[in-house]
Amino acid sequence: MNILVTGGLGYIGSHTCIKLIEAGFTPIIIDNLYNSKQAVLSRIEQITHIRPQFYLGDIRDKKLLTQIFTTHNISAVIHFAGLKAVGESVRKPLDYYNTNVSGSVCLLEVMKTHQVKNFIFSSSATVYGVQDSPAYHEEMNIGQATSPYGWSKLMVEQVLKDLQQAETDWSITSLRYFNPVGAHKSGLMGEDPQGIPNNLMPYISQVAVGKHPFVSIYGNDYPTPDGTGVRDYIHVEDLATGHVAALKKINQSGLHIYNLGSGKGYSVLEVIDAYSQVCPKPIPYKIVGRRAGDLAQYWADATKAAKELNWQTQHSLKEMVEDNYRWQSQNPNGYPNDE
Ligand code: NAD
Ligand code: WQD
Repeated sequence: MNILVTGGLGYIGSHTCIKLIEAGFTPIIIDNLYNSKQAVLSRIEQITHIRPQFYLGDIRDKKLLTQIFTTHNISAVIHFAGLKAVGESVRKPLDYYNTNVSGSVCLLEVMKTHQVKNFIFSSSATVYGVQDSPAYHEEMNIGQATSPYGWSKLMVEQVLKDLQQAETDWSITSLRYFNPVGAHKSGLMGEDPQGIPNNLMPYISQVAVGKHPFVSIYGNDYPTPDGTGVRDYIHVEDLATGHVAALKKINQSGLHIYNLGSGKGYSVLEVIDAYSQVCPKPIPYKIVGRRAGDLAQYWADATKAAKELNWQTQHSLKEMVEDNYRWQSQNPNGYPNDE
């Protein structure tokens, strides 16, 4: 089965391509390399001995998409391509709405033309916004994002809901990821942020290899057990298998929404502590003020995916930090420009 993977050279897309190949699917990748490098393709090949067909281009390019759908018999699309930096989205909202919302609509239009109606979307826990309880479940009311990035995910979820209502033969799955971290066990693939990382785990890993002197902990006065923010970290390999699990159910038409998380939260201090156990020296940190827009704590209620997709996370926090450190120490400057 040919699966079009948009953004398939990115962090989550690349790990998913490996799981797809291992499960017997054939990923076909489109990526404009906005936030990734072509070297990822060679790494996928090194790990799986298969080099996926790759199209360098933009999901907003209808001509290219048409060429892809005409050339290949695509059974389903997994749509990762998009912009994902929350802070940047506040400064560049049009870029985010254009790529994330218009790009998704463009892709769906071409799919409709070619009668491909199986779609898996990378959504985010950010769509929950602020809730009364920290265990987020799929039935909670959503509709209040806290950034243009969050709104772009909410808007696409709305587009998907309306589309599925209008054309009931679509099978649409929206996967709401919690905090993806970790790397491939081989140390060959991992997260490769451009510039200074905004997120906790990539920042810690750069401190571990000496690129920054310490981690700034954004606040230790939250109403959490140790005062630092609590999140549900999910190993990227578990996230990837979540997509394969969703794909196996793709013949069921309807709109399906699943949280992909572990169901357990860890504090910033717990993550730093776990990381310090797997690298040569303890990770230095300083407590600084809260980061605007951060919530105290939330994690996934992961029971729906367990029940309906028969999927749950397998990897512990220890494995997340071990695999992350292996990747970071073997590739301190990320992927090479040419490979
Ligand atoms: P990433 O930036 O590593 O991957 C996205 C890929 O899409 C990149 O390779 C980029 O080059 C490509 N891309 C961007 N714009 C494109 C365009 N217009 N046309 C073609 N390709 C384009 O990000 P990721 O962490 O792998 O995230 C994948 C998806 O998951 C995104 O939609 C993101 O919003 C969503 N998500 C990520 C997280 C997270 O914390 N990483 C959490 C929740 C949801
Ligand atoms: C985690 C915790 C910070 C950096 C973001 C997006 C979300 C989703 C996942 C895409 C928080 C603290 C962080 C640092 C710190 N992405 N922290 N020092 O904010 O939970 O989620 O990524 O959909 O939409 O918002 O992740 O890794 O930035 O922060 O103390 O240098 O670590 O305050 O408590 P976040 P994060």
